[in-house]
Amino acid sequence: MSKLRLEGKVAIITGAASGIGEAAAKLFAEHGAFVIIADIQHELANQVVDSIGGDKAFYRRCDVKDENQIEETVAYTIEKYGTLDIMYSNAGIIGSMGSLVRTALGELGKYGIKGELYFSFWSFHTYGV
Ligand SMILES: NC(=O)c1ccc[n+]([C@@H]2O[C@H](COP(=O)([O-])OP(=O)(O)OC[C@H]3O[C@@H](n4cnc5c(N)ncnc54)[C@H](O)[C@@H]3O)[C@@H](O)[C@H]2O)c1
Repeated sequence: MSKLRLEGKVAIITGAASGIGEAAAKLFAEHGAFVIIADIQHELANQVVDSIGGDKAFYRRCDVKDENQIEETVAYTIEKYGTLDIMYSNAGIIGSMGSLVRTALGELGKYGIKGELYFSFWSFHTYGV
């Protein structure tokens, strides 16, 4: 089986400047994907891009707490790369949580996970990805 299981795929990974997101970005790129490093830490993000290679990765500042920045990141990706195949909503800070089932999306900010959910919900509703 080919190792390049993600060849030709375009992926946005939030929080990819470090930790789990960085590891995912490197793995995705190893498997042939082009990866948008969506994060708020410029220096670390650019180091990740350098380590992957500028032909396989790109840094885009995106604060997942800001809906406009999410919109811009998704729109930019689709316009520049013609597609968006994978979204990995990795960035987030999880605090104390109540019942997610009974919590309206607009109230999720207080639980510290609004950004992650907005990223997924907004992109799905707007672009169907
Ligand atoms: N590490 C663990 O054991 C663990 C366990 C369970 C869940 N998680 C979750 O997995 C995710 C990644 O964890 P990690 O340990 O790699 O964290 P990390 O702190 O190493 O990395 C988080 C990354 O997210 C970025 N980030 C933070 N706020 C952001 C924002 N508003 N917009 C965009 N990017 C932002 C940071 O700059 C950083 O690069 C988090 O959502 C975390 O809650 C981690």
